[in-house]
Amino acid sequence: MTSAKQFTILFIATYLIQTVSLSSPDDRSGSCVLNFTSYPYQPTGECISDVKLKINVWDSWTTNLCCRNVLTTLSRALAIHAFTTQGGVFVSDVEWNSCTGPFVRQNSVSADTCGFDGLYYGSSNCSSVNLATIKQDKEYQQALNNCSLFGNSSSPLSFDDACDHCTSSMKELKQHLWDQYHQKNDDNKTENSICGCSSSYFGCSREN
Ligand SMILES: *[C@@H]1O[C@H](CO)[C@@H](O)[C@H](O)[C@H]1NC(C)=O
Ligand SMILES: *[C@@H]1O[C@H](CO)[C@@H](O)[C@H](O)[C@H]1NC(C)=O
Ligand SMILES: *[C@@H]1O[C@H](CO)[C@@H](O)[C@H](O)[C@H]1NC(C)=O
Ligand SMILES: *[C@@H]1O[C@H](CO)[C@@H](O)[C@H](O)[C@H]1NC(C)=O
Ligand SMILES: *[C@@H]1O[C@H](CO)[C@@H](O)[C@H](O)[C@H]1NC(C)=O
Repeated sequence: MTSAKQFTILFIATYLIQTVSLSSPDDRSGSCVLNFTSYPYQPTGECISDVKLKINVWDSWTTNLCCRNVLTTLSRALAIHAFTTQGGVFVSDVEWNSCTGPFVRQNSVSADTCGFDGLYYGSSNCSSVNLATIKQDKEYQQALNNCSLFGNSSSPLSFDDACDHCTSSMKELKQHLWDQYHQKNDDNKTENSICGCSSSYFGCSREN
């Protein structure tokens, strides 16, 4: 009898926890502060495929094809939010908790199920960056300038050249952020991933 009662309590507790954490980030009546209107989440067949092909994104996260879409969608929404608020590149843990539930159009997929639960402001040294601060660095301004040359009729650069300049200066910016924020002895996978730790570019000691 006691165990049945305990089981019921456990069941209710689990249900409550799920209800709290299950609100969809892109549900407009929900509490997630991110705006997915311009770049909505696109469902993908990769998420129901039995084959979970491992890929590397941002030169740092090892994930599967299904989660690549999630990361892309969340990155865009975070970028828009950072731009609008001129605040943190990541949102606070409380705000992030309302954004890690399943997407409306594919409810088997979420930031949580993809392991992106640590992507909040202050979870690591590298996630504590502010757009207002970064903008003062010359590496940011250069990247901004060099990446504004696409489809710009007053720029003489071909697409390939523009792309080359843009990716090179993005790499410089990434290196700069890494030098400034990454704590070298902090062997934390989430932190390394947020910092863009990649063995091929930055000689990190571990594969993520
Ligand atoms: C979300 O973004 C869209 C498109 O930029 C904009 O029209 C809308 O006002 C935004 N919603 C909120 C709540 O800020
Ligand atoms: C790494 O950082 C994440 C995000 O803050 C944290 O949840 C986790 O406990 C840390 N892991 C270690 C081993 O320190
Ligand atoms: C950031 O770096 C400092 C100094 O190495 C360290 O004490 C701290 O635990 C790190 N993590 C966070 C989340 O700030
Ligand atoms: C286009 O390129 C010119 C010259 O490089 C630059 O001054 C201008 O700001 C660019 N325009 C946009 C919209 O990025
Ligand atoms: C980016 O643009 C600046 C000038 O704004 C230039 O000095 C720099 O070499 C460019 N970087 C790359 C990687 O093209």
